[in-house]
Amino acid sequence: MTAFRFLTAGESHGPALGVTIEGVPAGLALTEDLIAEDLGRRQRGYGRGARQAIEHDRAEILGGVRHGLTLGSPVLLIVRNSDWENWTQVMAVGPLDDVDAEALRVAAEEGNKRATPVTRVRPGHADLAGALKYGFNDVRNVLERASARETAARVAAGAVARAFLRVLGIEVWSFTAEVGGVAVDPANATRSRAEADASPLRCPDPAAETAMIARIDEARTNGDTVGGVFEVVAHGLPIGLGSYVHWDRRLDGALAAAVTSINIVKGVEFGMGFEQTRRFGSTVHDVIAGRGDGGRWIHRSNNAGGLTGGVTNGEPLVVRGAVKPISTLARPLPSADLITGESVEKAHYERSDISVVPAAGVVAEAMVMLTLARFVLEKFGGDTVDDVVTNLDAYRARIARPPEPPVAGGRREVQDPGEAPAHGLTGTDEAGSGGDD
Ligand SMILES: Cc1cc2nc3c(=O)[nH]c(=O)nc-3n(C[C@H](O)[C@H](O)[C@H](O)COP(=O)(O)O)c2cc1C
Repeated sequence: MTAFRFLTAGESHGPALGVTIEGVPAGLALTEDLIAEDLGRRQRGYGRGARQAIEHDRAEILGGVRHGLTLGSPVLLIVRNSDWENWTQVMAVGPLDDVDAEALRVAAEEGNKRATPVTRVRPGHADLAGALKYGFNDVRNVLERASARETAARVAAGAVARAFLRVLGIEVWSFTAEVGGVAVDPANATRSRAEADASPLRCPDPAAETAMIARIDEARTNGDTVGGVFEVVAHGLPIGLGSYVHWDRRLDGALAAAVTSINIVKGVEFGMGFEQTRRFGSTVHDVIAGRGDGGRWIHRSNNAGGLTGGVTNGEPLVVRGAVKPISTLARPLPSADLITGESVEKAHYERSDISVVPAAGVVAEAMVMLTLARFVLEKFGGDTVDDVVTNLDAYRARIARPPEPPVAGGRREVQDPGEAPAHGLTGTDEAGSGGDD
């Protein structure tokens, strides 16, 4: 499956981030302004650090688009790092000549933090495992790529997926559901989607948001950080994306992998999620009300979050992600030094966010959209956007029609009269008599 496959490149303080997206159908309208909207949303959010004031992310389209339309060839995007100008020596791509190497050594000796190699590994970050794995004695080589700056490239790619899904009537958004134990109360979620998106924490419940902001302020005052939960919702998905026939064709599995691949996400749930484990089945499962107008199947609730058997069931997709607290603390935890192996009083600190739940939600939207685009193309694949629309329309018409009533024993007219009956039963019909998996 290659559609909407993407690969990112680039370091946090390097010249730029890049992403190549393969398998985007031809004929999709795409502009840099469109991508900039999602990039801007990733940068906002109460609790983010000073880096966001430096960067004004904008993706340049460098390939795969002509006169505003995709060509079916790989789409190449780059997002330049404005902060690069402060790191040209420390993050130089080419080998350092003697003069530059000496300048860096002197700068480090004089206490320049950027120039000083990082050896005091941060608990909760990729520092220790990454440095040992790749054989580095300067943790900067790890943190530059493990940093979530890379997620700007994912969000740029996600915006391309959004443009594609939108043509098919599929809309994806997210909101902050919880910060530091303060949760949205659905009864107080009075803000519209646009209002929530514009609010400091992208939160639909104003009262909960105020309390969440207080938790972030508390963390800031204490030199600490705080996590939370985001929720991603997708509307307009056709029934039948994904499959139950193989583990790797289940959409829930692919979405869980995509969302937990986001640096900082430590758990994922669909719909009612873990709460289902505390209830009886009668209060969990979504009663199927029947076929409604236009052949739409209606469930009386959506506790499954729009997925049953790894397949979309026509209800909105609801995915929630658990965001751990940021691991770079202004009041650093004790740790150890990579070179000496001895404990140190304080782990490394550099400019950092305090809480990133709204931003993580935007990254999760991107990962969900890229995954959905892949599954849409697997099912309705075409080389042009029009092909995909035609295939999807034909499929929607097919599933809106009532199936032929079944005949017990199957279609006898095609059977060889010498063969055993199609039902294969030898005695009493035991169907449904036992438990199964
Ligand atoms: C949008 C976003 C911003 C982040 N900002 C920071 C940050 O400023 N400082 C930090 O230590 N971690 C930050 N993180 C989290 C780290 O990138 C992440 O914890 C680290 O790569 C280790 O990966 P893990 O948390 O999955 O184990 C951020 C994550 C996201 C999604």
